[in-house]
Amino acid sequence: MIIEPKTRGFICLTSHPEGCKSNVLSQINYIKDHPTANGPKRVLVIGASTGFGLASRITSAYGSNASTIGVYFEKPPTDGRPASPGYYNSAAFETQAHKDGLYAKSINGDAFSNAVKAQTIKLIKEDLGKIDLLVYSLASPVRQHPDTGEKFKSTLKPIGQTFTDKTVDFHTGEVKEITIEPCNEQEIKNTVAVMGGEDWQFWINALQENDALAEDFKTVAYSYIGPSLTEAVYRKGTIGRAKDHLEATAFKIKDQLKAINGEAYVSVNKALVTQASSAIPVIPLYISLLYKVMKEEGIHEGCIEQIERLFNERLYAENMTLDSEGRIRVDDLEMREDIQAKVLELWKIATTETLPEIGDLEGYNTDFFNLFGFKVDGIDYDKDVNEMVTVPGLQ
Ligand code: NAD
Ligand code: NA
Repeated sequence: MIIEPKTRGFICLTSHPEGCKSNVLSQINYIKDHPTANGPKRVLVIGASTGFGLASRITSAYGSNASTIGVYFEKPPTDGRPASPGYYNSAAFETQAHKDGLYAKSINGDAFSNAVKAQTIKLIKEDLGKIDLLVYSLASPVRQHPDTGEKFKSTLKPIGQTFTDKTVDFHTGEVKEITIEPCNEQEIKNTVAVMGGEDWQFWINALQENDALAEDFKTVAYSYIGPSLTEAVYRKGTIGRAKDHLEATAFKIKDQLKAINGEAYVSVNKALVTQASSAIPVIPLYISLLYKVMKEEGIHEGCIEQIERLFNERLYAENMTLDSEGRIRVDDLEMREDIQAKVLELWKIATTETLPEIGDLEGYNTDFFNLFGFKVDGIDYDKDVNEMVTVPGLQ
C-alpha cells in the first residue's frame, strides 16, 4: 500500500516501514563508527522500540556486539493498516541484527505486568543466563499496578499554582498562550505511580530473585531536568515528582546490588523530539528554539549521539563524573550557560511571526515526522510498500 502521514493533534496515526528502517540503519551506521570499549554483552532494554530506548539497544548491539532483548508496547500491522513506528523500528533492527549474526529477540506487551516480567526472565534464563545491563526507558501515559490492578494515569500539570506561558502548535506554527491549572494531590501520586521508579525497582527485584543479574551488572534509567522556562510544567510539576522518585530509586537499587558489585544510575538526557515529548505543553517551543541555537553552535545531538556519549564517555568510561545529586549528565551541552542565555532571549521575542526566523520549527517538524518514518531522505513515498512486516525475534 501507499502510506501517507495522518496526524491528529500531537500524534501521527500512520507510520512508514521503509522510513523507519532507514532511520534504524542510520543509527546502526553511526554506532559502527563509534564502538564501545568494554561495553555490555547481554542487555535488556525496557522501552526498546523508539527514542532513547531504541538508541540504547542499537548502541549495545553495534557498539559492543551485545545480545539484546527488547521489551516494548507497539501495535502490529493489520491488513490495510500500518503498524506503530516502534514495531517497524524493531522489525528493521532485528532483521539487520540477525543478518549481522547478533542475537536479538523481543517481547511486545505491557512491561508493567507480572506476566511480561516472567516471560522476559524465562527468555533470559534460557538464552543468555544473566544480563549485564538493564536500560529502563519507558514513557507511558498509563500504568496498571501488577498486584492491585489499580489503574493510574499520569498528568503534565504544575503544582500549587496556575501556569501561563507560550507554546507552539508545531503543525501550524502558531505561537499562543497556554494556561494550565494546578494538579491535585491524587494527580501527583498517579503520575509518580506511572513514571516514577516503582516499576524499575520491580524489574530489578524480579531479575535478582531469579538470579539473572551478572557480577558487575549495571542499570540506567532516563530523566530530564531542563531550564527554568519549563520548570513549572516539567521539573517542578507532576512529571518532575515522578522523576524525583525515579532518581531516588537509583540509590535504593544500588544498595540492593552490593553483593554483585552492581551499579544503578539515572542519566539526565537532552530534550529531543519523541512521541513522549511532543505531548508536553511548552516543550515543543523550547525545543524549536534550543535546536536552532545548538545547531548554530554545531553541538546538536539526536537520541543516538546522546546514548553513544552516555556509553562511551560515562557508563563504560574509565572514570565517570556525576553531578552533586549523583546523576549522569548528558544534557551538559543543552544546559551550557551560553546556550540557555540565548534560548531565553529568543523565548522573549518568540511569536507566530518571528518563530520561523528565530526558531528551528522546520527541524522540529521534520524530526516529528521522522519518528513515524516520514520525510526521511531517500524514501520514495509514492511507492507501494508492504505494511505487513514482521519482527523476526518476536516471542
Ligand atoms: P518514547 O515514547 O520514544 O519511548 C517509549 C518506549 O516505551 C517505547 O519503546 C514504547 O513502546 C515503550 N512503552 C510504553 N509503554 C509501555 C508499556 N506499558 N510496556 C512496554 N513498553 C512500553 O520515549 P522517550 O522520549 O525515548 O522516553 C524514554 C525515557 O527518556 C523517558 O523516561 C523519558 O522521560 C526520558 N527522557 C526523554 C527526553 C525527551 O526529550 N524525549 C529527555 C530526557 C529524558
Ligand atoms: Na525509549
